[in-house]
Amino acid sequence: MFSALPTVPLLSLTGITKRFGNLVANSDVSLDVRPGEIHALLGENGAGKSTLMNIAAGYARADEGRIEVRGVPQEFRLPADAIAAGIGMVHQHFHLVDRLTVAENIVLNDEPGSAVLIDYKAANGEVRDLSERMGLPVDPKALVADISVAMQQRVEILKTLYRKADVLLLDEPTAVLAPAEVRDLLTVIRSLADSGVGIVLITHKLDEATLVADRLSVLRSGEIVARFDRGDASPAELAQEMVGREIHTVVARPHAVGATVLSVTDLEVDDSRGVPALRGVSFEVGESEIVGIAGVDGNGQAELVGVLAGLVTPNSGRATVAGEPLAFEHPRSIARQGVAHVPADRRKYGLVADFTLADNFALRGYYTAPFSKRGFLQRGVIDSLCAENMAHYGVKARGVDALAKELSGGNQQKLILAREMFTSPRLLLASQPTRGLDVGSIETVHGRLLKHRDEGCGILLVSFELDEILALSTRVVVLFEGRVVLDRPRSEVSREILGAAMTGAVAA
Ligand SMILES: Nc1ncnc2c1ncn2[C@@H]1O[C@H](COP(=O)(O)OP(=O)(O)OP(=O)(O)O)[C@@H](O)[C@H]1O
Ligand SMILES: [Mg+2]
Repeated sequence: MFSALPTVPLLSLTGITKRFGNLVANSDVSLDVRPGEIHALLGENGAGKSTLMNIAAGYARADEGRIEVRGVPQEFRLPADAIAAGIGMVHQHFHLVDRLTVAENIVLNDEPGSAVLIDYKAANGEVRDLSERMGLPVDPKALVADISVAMQQRVEILKTLYRKADVLLLDEPTAVLAPAEVRDLLTVIRSLADSGVGIVLITHKLDEATLVADRLSVLRSGEIVARFDRGDASPAELAQEMVGREIHTVVARPHAVGATVLSVTDLEVDDSRGVPALRGVSFEVGESEIVGIAGVDGNGQAELVGVLAGLVTPNSGRATVAGEPLAFEHPRSIARQGVAHVPADRRKYGLVADFTLADNFALRGYYTAPFSKRGFLQRGVIDSLCAENMAHYGVKARGVDALAKELSGGNQQKLILAREMFTSPRLLLASQPTRGLDVGSIETVHGRLLKHRDEGCGILLVSFELDEILALSTRVVVLFEGRVVLDRPRSEVSREILGAAMTGAVAA
C-alpha cells in the first residue's frame, strides 16, 4: 500500500485569497485533497468554507492564489471547467430542477443520444446502473419535487459521479439528514474514498468529523488556524480551535409552566400526495414550556408544523392559541395571534434572498408598529432594530443593507431566529432551529430559546437532534406514523426510551 513516492494531490489550492468589498472571506488559504482521503473542513458560520469550495468548483474566482488538479495548474472560469477537470460539488442548498425526473436531473446537459433527441430510456438505465454500483439507490423516474431531501442529495452526488468526478466537495451534506441517513451517507462516502475518490467534507458536527475524516483543517475568519490528522484532536479541541473559546452545553433549568398557549385536538392531515400524515394528534404547550417533538423524519412533523404555521389545512381537528381557534391557512392572521415560525426550509419560507437584511427583518410585520407609522415605513427604526437584534444573535454581515444571499448559511438561520423572536411571540414553532449552526452559535441560540421560555413564550421544538430535545424540553412528544406514541415530562424520558418510541416500540 505505501509507496515511497509522495502522492500527488488530486486537488490543491494554494494561497487562495477572496474578498467581497472590504470583507476578506479567504485569506492565503492552502488546502489539498489526496486520492482515497476524506478531508474535513471545519469552521464557524461565516469562516469562509463555502467560499473556498465555490472557488475550487468554478462558481467563484479567487483574487489571488493557484488551483492545481493532479499537479496541473487550472483556470476555472465556469463550473463546467471544474467538472471537466473532475471536480464535483454538492452545495449547501441543492441546485436541482424540481419538475424534472431524477434521471433527467442527473444527465442534464450531458444527455446520451443525439443533441435533439434525448434517449430517456438509456438515461434511466444508466442512472439505475450507476446508482446501484455506488450504493446510492434512487428511483430514476421519480420527479425531484416528490422525493425527500435525503434522496435529492443522492441525486446531487450521482450527478457529479455521472460526470466522472474524482474529487467531491460536499458542503454540509449531513445538516439536512436525520441520524440514520447520516450513517448511510458516511458509509457511502467512505467507500467512495476507498475506491480512490478524494473528498472534502464540510460539517458542523464535530463528532462526525473526528469519526470519518483522515485529515481535518480548521478555518477561522478566512484563515487556516489548525490542521490535524485522524485521531489527533477530540471534538472539544476542534470546537476550541474553531471559535477560540471553550464551548459549554446549555442545560435547561426547570421553570414553572403557565396557562395553556397551544392546544391541539384530534388533528388529521394528509400529506402532499393525499396519504394520511397526522392521524388524530392531540397535545398541549403551556406558557414557559418547551415541548420537544422527536421522531424519525417523515412521521408527520412537517405536516404538524405546516398546519400550525398556516400553510396546510387539516382534514379535521382543532387547534387553539390562548383559547382562540387558529386561523388555518392564514399565515398573517396566525402571526397576529402571536405565533412565530422558524421554518425547516429557510430558503423556501424563511428569507427573500434578494432583499436586504433590514427588509428581511421587517418582513413579518412591516405593516405594523414599530416598522410602520400611519402607513409609512420607518426606515431608520427598521435599520437600527435589525442591527441591534443581529448583534443579539451573533449574525455576522457587513451591514443591514447587505443582501440575504450574501450571508453564510448559518448566519441566514440566525437572522431568521432574531426576526421571529423579535415579535415576542406567545408561541414559537421552531423547526430544526440550529440546523447548519456552528457549536458556538448553537450555545447562543439555546441560551436565547431558554430566555424566551423564562419570559413566558411557549415553544414547540421540532428537532432530529435527540441531544437538543433532551437538553431543552420541558415535555417530550414522539410522533410515529402520524400518531403521538409518547407524551411525557422530560424527567421521565431517556435517550433509550425515546429511541424505542421513535421506532414505534412503545405505546403512549
Ligand atoms: N456573494 C457574496 N457577497 C458578499 N459577501 C459574501 C458573499 N458570499 C459570501 N460572503 C461572505 O463571506 C464570508 C464567508 O462566507 P461563507 O459562506 O464562505 O461561510 P461558511 O464558512 O460557509 O459559513 P456557514 O457555516 O454559515 O455556511 C461571510 O462573511 C459571508 O457573508
Ligand atoms: Mg457555508
